[in-house]
Amino acid sequence: MNKVDVVVLAAGKGTRMNSSLPKVLHKLAGRTLLQHVISTVNCVSDCRIIVITGHQAEAVEKFHAQRNCIFVRQSEQLGTAHAVAMSLPYIRDLSNVVILYGDVPLVSLSTIEKMIEAVKEGQMGLLTAEKHNPSGYGRIVSNEEGSIESIVEQSDATPNQLKITEVNTGVMAMNSSQLKNWVPQIRNSNKKNEYYLTDIIEIARLNGCFIKRIQPNSNIEVEGVNNREQLSRLERSYQKYLANEFMLAGNSIADPDRFDQRGKLKTGFDNYIDVNCIFEGEVQLGNNISIGPNCHIINSIIDDCVEIKANSIVDSSRIKSGAIVGPFARLRPGTLIGEGSSVGNFVEIKKTTVGHGSKVNHLTYLGDAKIGPRANIGAGAITCNYDGSKKHETTIGENVFVGSNTTLVAPIALSDNSFVAAGSTVTTSVAQGQLAVGRAQQRNVTGWKPPKNS
Ligand code: UD1
Ligand code: CA
Repeated sequence: MNKVDVVVLAAGKGTRMNSSLPKVLHKLAGRTLLQHVISTVNCVSDCRIIVITGHQAEAVEKFHAQRNCIFVRQSEQLGTAHAVAMSLPYIRDLSNVVILYGDVPLVSLSTIEKMIEAVKEGQMGLLTAEKHNPSGYGRIVSNEEGSIESIVEQSDATPNQLKITEVNTGVMAMNSSQLKNWVPQIRNSNKKNEYYLTDIIEIARLNGCFIKRIQPNSNIEVEGVNNREQLSRLERSYQKYLANEFMLAGNSIADPDRFDQRGKLKTGFDNYIDVNCIFEGEVQLGNNISIGPNCHIINSIIDDCVEIKANSIVDSSRIKSGAIVGPFARLRPGTLIGEGSSVGNFVEIKKTTVGHGSKVNHLTYLGDAKIGPRANIGAGAITCNYDGSKKHETTIGENVFVGSNTTLVAPIALSDNSFVAAGSTVTTSVAQGQLAVGRAQQRNVTGWKPPKNS
């Protein structure tokens, strides 16, 4: 019996978030709470994923539509057992079933696999955790030998039960026939008149099933998110965990408390990250890279020995080895910076290739341009790529010198070894080796008298 059906509960409103957004659409490390759960489950082999939606179901389903899940609606949120009941028609015979909560986002694959193992051994698996402050969680009631007897929700617990520090994480596993037999037996006779999935534990025990206690590898796996304070605390502890992974792989971080990874970060080693950098989407780093403070790197590839100086933004771009970017540079999507090139302060580059060894060091906008190797683009040079309706390209060959404060009106080409005088407005292409001067002639007026004060 190797089939696995995973049920993810995501129908609740998340009242305690005080938000117009459903709770599972709130983000942790740049991904929705539900995305975290689904992408972990995607790694379970031979697995069907059933997501129970309800509150703002359309929004939740639309956001996760590309994921390979079956969405099942729970039209009224009558409790976690009622939510699981909605999944029963989609649970396959002879499968191992794992129940996960959309608001417990960081359960790991290895923990899920341990749960499945317990089911294969004929037991039921329950993921529990020790908490100094168990407030808000269901408490695990055990007998004298320490075996699990039942779960009692906080609102129904006696003062003595409230002292129990072993809590229910919500994650449990059993075989499909047990689930199908036991869920319909759950009643709503509790303080909140909800159908509590937690009642299944007592039913299992009364049916002679042993409940195996499984513990997480790390505490962040079992943190539930019910309000924004818990969300922000989980964000920090998850970031600390990601920062540790990054450091243990052989990289340095100036301050792991000021490091943010919102997506996948592939890395070599001996990279150095200064404070307050954000890595978003899919970022790939080579080796020996230095990234200064306050940089935002999004969906980009950074090759070996690159230096990105303070306050730079690199979005959907590639920076080749040995290049220097920043401080205060902005690389927009589609930019390629060649080997050993330099891009300095207040430079914005979009959909542009900069050849190797070129310099764009100050106050420049380059858009829709192709720049050859060893070109020098002076301070204040601008490609006028937009005529109000269409975008046009600028081509600059190798070893071209573009003087300061030049406007290049695209479409235009500056051939190899050409030279543009400072302050020019260039509207026609320049051939190889030519000098282009496109500025008003200077007049020096002799005998000029300044205006007098009246
Ligand atoms: C639940 C557990 C509690 C556990 C805690 C762990 C129950 C009764 N209680 O409490 O023992 O310690 O999680 O985080 O299970 N949901 C639905 N439909 C519903 C109700 C809830 O889909 O009708 C979903 C919610 O969207 C959420 C999850 O189930 O993702 C848990 O619901 P929530 O109300 O947050 O339960 P807790 O009070 O946290
Ligand atoms: Ca919860």
